[in-house]
Amino acid sequence: MQDEIRTIFDAINNDDREILIQKFKDYKPEKELPKNLREFSINITNLDIKKEKIIDSSFANLDLSMGACKKDASLRVYFDKKLEKFTFSNYENFVDNLCLKSGILGFIFGESCEDCTFYPLDRYNSLPNVAWEPSDIVYVQEIPGGQSISMKAYNDLIDMFREAQKAGFSMMLNSGYRSYQTQYYVYENWVKVEMSKGYTRSQAEAIASQYSARPGFSEHQLGTTVDIGAVSCSSFTNCNESIWNWLRDNAYKFGFIMSYPPGTQNKTGYIHEPWHYRWIGRDLASEYILYKDQYVLGEWLKLKNVGIL
Ligand code: DAL
Ligand code: ZN
Repeated sequence: MQDEIRTIFDAINNDDREILIQKFKDYKPEKELPKNLREFSINITNLDIKKEKIIDSSFANLDLSMGACKKDASLRVYFDKKLEKFTFSNYENFVDNLCLKSGILGFIFGESCEDCTFYPLDRYNSLPNVAWEPSDIVYVQEIPGGQSISMKAYNDLIDMFREAQKAGFSMMLNSGYRSYQTQYYVYENWVKVEMSKGYTRSQAEAIASQYSARPGFSEHQLGTTVDIGAVSCSSFTNCNESIWNWLRDNAYKFGFIMSYPPGTQNKTGYIHEPWHYRWIGRDLASEYILYKDQYVLGEWLKLKNVGIL
């Protein structure tokens, strides 16, 4: 395993995707790994494998750190035995932390989606085709906010708003579908807001990236994700709290899941967003809710997609 990891590092250092694909084309784990999750540590020169979680024979999650740059630089490596492919997550942080200037943003291989509705996304994982667009976006007439969403989530969204109204909450949509291009402007705007406080561009990006997705990385691009608040409050203020509490307790019944729960920034890369809900449908949502303390939505969708759960 150590040699494999070294190869990953050599290839990343050379910033050469082809080398990676070549090297791992024929890779097979040497031994059958145990079913139960276990953790252990290995140390090799300059490279510290902090934690290895072997989930089963097809799925391993390595947290690695490099001595050279930052102590907490880490890279998750998944080997999907079924597809015989490696994928990386949080490579963006890792590459940042290796002090490489030539980023490999959007670099995940071995995965694609034609319909990306259930594709796992977070700060470190973009859509395979970053410009992907849903084909069923419609304007939401019945709900204040002037937003559009995917038809797939439409009826459930309306039902949820009706139910909230019955409970005494007048909700509105502060955001819905955002194309790649729109997300580009949203993200750039937040970077500029941070720069106006005196930060450099790269400092501003590091801060903005904790609450705004880069284009190609946002769940809003799926058309199934909404930001919800009270009609009577401005978007992100505590004035919305009672509505966010209602959503926290009820949204899953309508197929909507809070993507960035409190205390999960180390997983999602984003601060807690009590307003941001992603639709996955009522059936999947009722399944996910059993795992919500174990996995954030993105992790869970990833495990579902590779057939682990
Ligand atoms: N605020 C979330 C992370 C987004 O921009 O999609
Ligand atoms: Zn949002």
